[in-house]
Amino acid sequence: MATSAGSTSRSLGLSVLFLLATLTTTSAQLASAGLTVTLNNVYYFVSPFSSGKVNAPKGSLDRVPGVIGFKPVTVVQDRVAQADISTLLTNWTAIDDVYQEAFSDAIFLTEPSGGKWHRSLEVTEIQILPDVSSSLISSKNSKIPSGPYFIEVATGSLYPVYRLYDDFAGAFTEPLIPTPDGRFQPLSAKIPGSSSLTVGVPSRLYFTKTADKPLAGVRVGVKDIYRLAGVKGSNGNRAWYNLYPPSNITGPAIQRLIDAGAQIIGLQKTSQFANGEFATADWVDYHSPFNPRGDGYQDPGSSSSGAGASVASYDWLDIAIGSDTGGSIRGPAGIQGLFGNRPSHGLVSLDHVMPLSPTLDTPGFIVRDPYLWDAASAVLYGKNYTSLAHKKPAYPKTVYTLGFPTASDKPADKLLIDFANAVASFVNGTAAPLDLDSKWSATRPAEAGNATLNQLLNTTYATIITKEQTALLRDPFYRDYAAAHANRLPFINPTPIIRWAYGDSLPAEALSTALTEQTLFKTWFNTHILPPTNSTPQNGPSTTAECSSSLILYISALADAGPRDLYAGPPGIPFGFWDVRISTFAGVPDSVFPVGEIGVVSEVTGVEEKLAVAVSVLAARGCDGLLVKLAQELVERGVVRVPRVGASGLDGGEVLMRRGWGEGGQ
Ligand SMILES: *[C@@H]1O[C@H](CO)[C@@H](O)[C@H](O)[C@H]1NC(C)=O
Ligand SMILES: *[C@@H]1O[C@H](CO)[C@@H](O)[C@H](O)[C@H]1NC(C)=O
Ligand SMILES: *[C@@H]1O[C@H](CO)[C@@H](O)[C@H](O)[C@H]1NC(C)=O
Ligand SMILES: *[C@@H]1O[C@H](CO)[C@@H](O)[C@H](O)[C@H]1NC(C)=O
Ligand SMILES: *[C@@H]1O[C@H](CO)[C@@H](O)[C@H](O)[C@H]1NC(C)=O
Ligand SMILES: *[C@@H]1O[C@H](CO)[C@@H](O)[C@H](O)[C@H]1NC(C)=O
Repeated sequence: MATSAGSTSRSLGLSVLFLLATLTTTSAQLASAGLTVTLNNVYYFVSPFSSGKVNAPKGSLDRVPGVIGFKPVTVVQDRVAQADISTLLTNWTAIDDVYQEAFSDAIFLTEPSGGKWHRSLEVTEIQILPDVSSSLISSKNSKIPSGPYFIEVATGSLYPVYRLYDDFAGAFTEPLIPTPDGRFQPLSAKIPGSSSLTVGVPSRLYFTKTADKPLAGVRVGVKDIYRLAGVKGSNGNRAWYNLYPPSNITGPAIQRLIDAGAQIIGLQKTSQFANGEFATADWVDYHSPFNPRGDGYQDPGSSSSGAGASVASYDWLDIAIGSDTGGSIRGPAGIQGLFGNRPSHGLVSLDHVMPLSPTLDTPGFIVRDPYLWDAASAVLYGKNYTSLAHKKPAYPKTVYTLGFPTASDKPADKLLIDFANAVASFVNGTAAPLDLDSKWSATRPAEAGNATLNQLLNTTYATIITKEQTALLRDPFYRDYAAAHANRLPFINPTPIIRWAYGDSLPAEALSTALTEQTLFKTWFNTHILPPTNSTPQNGPSTTAECSSSLILYISALADAGPRDLYAGPPGIPFGFWDVRISTFAGVPDSVFPVGEIGVVSEVTGVEEKLAVAVSVLAARGCDGLLVKLAQELVERGVVRVPRVGASGLDGGEVLMRRGWGEGGQ
C-alpha cells in the first residue's frame, strides 16, 4: 500500500467511453466497449475483455485509488524473492512503456505451492521505494500474465491495460484491439490530439517470446488492404469502406504473424487501391500521412504510406507490414530512411488481401530493427525464407552498382560511393558499375528483336496493373456498388481513375503481350544478370551455401526534397522502365538500406533539415534472408545505423510542426 505521500500525488481521472447500448423493444443489449482513464496523467484504455479473476481479501485494496469500480494493480508471476520485487518493478519500467510505478499499490503475487507466507498471511505490506509501500496479496491464479491491470473491485476480474498514444502522423485508419475469439474490434478511445486517431498498445509484460511465439508482444501496424476478421477495410476508399461488411476472416499472411504472437494494433493508410499518389491533390478520400523527417512537411511516399510514416514516427510501434507492387514499400522506406523489403515474388499467399496485380504484388515490412526484420520475415514467409541468424553466410564477392555517381563531389554522392565500397569491402570483393542496357543489347533474347529495355518494357507495368486491377477489383466493386446504390458509381481518386481508364483503352490481348514482355525480361535477368548460385557450404553446418551470384545496388533516396504541398500536376500513367522496376518484373528480393542523411534547406523552415539517403540492394530470387543478414552485419560494423524515430533518422529529435500536443499527454 502506498504511503500517503505516494497516493496523494496520484490522480486517477477518467473519460467515459464505457457503455454501448443497443435498445430493442424486447431486451436491451448492453456491452462494454472498454474504458479510458488517466493514471498520473498518462492515458490508459481498460480492455473490455477480462484476463481472469483473483481474490482480493476484504480491505486489501482500500487505499488504492479507483474510478467507477476499477483500480490499478499489478500481477507478478515471476518467481522472485520478496526482497527483489522492487528491482523487478523498476526493471519493468525500463522495458515497458505501459507499466508505471502507480500500478504497484497492490501486487498480486502467485505463490509457488508450499510458499513461505501464504498460509499465515494473505496480505503483507512491502516497501517498494524508500517512500512507497505496497500491499502484496497472495494469489493462486497462475494463468494471468505478469503486468499492469485494472481490477473490477466488485468481482475481482482483471482487465488488461493499453497505453494510448496520439497518431499525430495520421498514419492509421482504424486502431484495433483483439477480441477473445481471435478477431478484432475498433479501439473505442480518443485522447487529445488535433484531428488524429488514438492508438492503443498492450503492455509488453504480458508476452513472453518462445520458440512457438517468436513475435510475442511485437506491435505491428497493418496496411489497410489486408483483411482482418471483424474489421471493415477501406483500401484507401471511403465508398469501399461503407459498402462492404466487416471481413469474417483474417488472411493467411497476417494470421501467421498473429499465430507467432504479434499484436496487431491497427490498420494503416494506403494510397487509394495501392496506386501511387502524391500528398497534395491526389489524396482526396483520405489525408496523406505526415513524414516526420526534415521539416515535417515532406511527402511520405506511397502506397504503404502509413507503414513508413508510423515506423519513422513512433517508438511504441515495432514494425509495419505493407505491400510492394511497383515500389510501395521501397519508396516510403527510402524516403524516411528505414529498412524495408520487397521480397521474392510468391513467398506467401495473398488471399484476403486487396489485389493491385497478383502477378507483381508482394507483402513486405518496414522496420527499424534488422533483427526483428529477420524474425518477422521467418514467420511471414515460413519455409520460403532462410533465416541466417547464427549462420555465417557466403556472400557473393561481386557488388554491382546501377546509376551510381562516379565522383563524390556532392555529400549525397559521397554517402552512396562510401556505402558501395563498404559493402564490397565487407564481402571481400569489389564494387563495379553495371551497364544493364549494354548487357541487354549483347545478350537479349531473340524474341525481343532489337528493342531496348525501355522500348520493350515501357508500357508493361502500366498494362499489367491496370488490366489486372480493373478485372479483379474495380469491376466487381462497381457492380456491388451499383446494386446497393440505385445504379450509381462510387467516388474514385484521380490516380486510380486515370490508370483504370488507361487499362480500358487497351485491347484485351494487351495483358498477355505485357506478361510476355515481363517474362522475357525476368528470364533474361535471372539467367544473365543475377542468377542464383548454390555452392556447397565450405566450413561445416554453421556456414551456408552461397545463394546469389552478386549484389546489385541502386539509389533509393537521395535527400531530394519532396514537399507535400507540391502541386505535381494531374497524375500520369506509370510508363517507362528504370531500376525500381527490376525486382518488380524479375521477382527478386529488393531491400532498402538507410545509408545516411544530408542537410537540405527547407522551403518551410528556411534552415537546413535532414533528409535521408538510401540504397536498394537486389539479390537473386530466394535469397531474401541474405539481405537481412547483410543489414545486421553492416549495422554491427557501423556501416549502417539503426534508424531512429523523429525528425532525423540518425539523431532522432522532436518532429517539427507535428500536430497534437504530445504523445498521450506526456
Ligand atoms: C533486473 O535487471 C537486471 C539487468 O537486466 C538483472 O540483472 C536483474 O536480474 C533483474 N532483476 C529482477 C528482479 O528481475
Ligand atoms: C464468410 O463470408 C463469406 C462471404 O460472405 C461466406 O461465404 C463464408 O461462409 C463466411 N464464413 C464464415 C465463417 O462465416
Ligand atoms: C512458398 O512459395 C511457393 C511458390 O511461390 C508457394 O507455392 C508456397 O505456397 C509457398 N510456401 C509457403 C509455406 O507459403
Ligand atoms: C573477409 O575476409 C576476412 C579475412 O579472411 C574474413 O575474416 C571475413 O570473414 C571475410 N568476410 C566475409 C563476409 O566473408
Ligand atoms: C530495329 O529493327 C527494325 C525492324 O525490325 C528496324 O526498322 C530498326 O531500324 C531497327 N532499329 C535499330 C536501332 O537497329
Ligand atoms: C512509352 O509509352 C507512352 C504511351 O504509349 C509513350 O507516350 C512514350 O513515348 C513511350 N516512351 C518510350 C520511351 O517509348
